[in-house]
Amino acid sequence: MGSITCDRVSELKAFDDTKAGVKGLVDAGITTIPQIFIQDHHTKYKFDDKPICRDPKISIPIINLQRIHKDSSLRSQVIDQIRSACEEWGFFQVINHGIPTSILDQAVDGIRRFFEQDVEVKQKYYSRDYSKKIKYCSNLNLYSAPTLFWKDTLSCVMGRDFSNPEDLPEACRDNDHIQQPNVENIGCVEEMTIGNSYYPECPQPELSIGIATHSDPGFVTVLIQDQIGGLQVFHEDQWFDIAPVPGALVVNLGYMMQLITNDKFKSAYHRVLSNKEGSRISIGSFFMNNSCSRRYGPIKELLSEVNPPLYPEITLKDIYNNQSLKNNELSALDKLKLASQSG
Ligand code: OGA
Ligand code: NI
Repeated sequence: MGSITCDRVSELKAFDDTKAGVKGLVDAGITTIPQIFIQDHHTKYKFDDKPICRDPKISIPIINLQRIHKDSSLRSQVIDQIRSACEEWGFFQVINHGIPTSILDQAVDGIRRFFEQDVEVKQKYYSRDYSKKIKYCSNLNLYSAPTLFWKDTLSCVMGRDFSNPEDLPEACRDNDHIQQPNVENIGCVEEMTIGNSYYPECPQPELSIGIATHSDPGFVTVLIQDQIGGLQVFHEDQWFDIAPVPGALVVNLGYMMQLITNDKFKSAYHRVLSNKEGSRISIGSFFMNNSCSRRYGPIKELLSEVNPPLYPEITLKDIYNNQSLKNNELSALDKLKLASQSG
């Protein structure tokens, strides 16, 4: 047993030391995946055995924002659609949101350039130091995770003090989405993290996972995905594909949004499957600031005698560091609520 553990640690370290991520393994031409990436029965994540619904008539809502600023009755219809999507799915896509498809494509291309450039250039950004604002890494919690994800990440923390595009890797410096972070008006979040993910093609996709079942910790995540697919949401006891729609943004709610709405809105579990066909890119903007000390609780206007607060006031940092939320335990949010009531 001891030697198994020791082998595992040295395997992890050897992988980490390449600073070439999962993409490096694929480039080296592996045909079977290393043990550290195998999702075996010990490490299986919850809901993995649940069916995938492939009924083309059911999908997360696709909401059209066209003309909402010009037509107030249309605008209120769209608000209703968003409200229902948040209550039922915790996930939706928006189209005609005003960001040209060419800008989204340009962003994806820049991220592809970053991950597919010479490894020596990319390695300069390799780090697992949490305090670094811009870092490239594979599996941030490499040494503590039960099993690894088949993906590499370039993360950028963007906030008021982010002013120097020169700090960005050259490959994606032209990306308008990265150069002009406009988070000034968001108030409660003030800072966001952009998680640029590269999911290389996988020779044994059935044994690996791009990102295991989880829910996002913050308020809202807005995601650009390329046309490969693989993202799925868990809804009414089944998995549903979030089919790529050209030019669309995928929006999903995090734990904090479920908390402040006192469970009215849903923070849904989701995952990304690996595939054999081709590398996948996604760019997620995570609206949260984990160092913020502001406390958030259920919104007062939503509360009444019959709808008492289910959660205590809590900071984003508390959410981020909460172990059951981190582990994506089934009833992680319930635990939070019970802990406060018994305390
Ligand atoms: C995430 C996530 C989905 C994707 O990073 O939290 O869910 O498609 N990403 O990459
Ligand atoms: Ni997520």
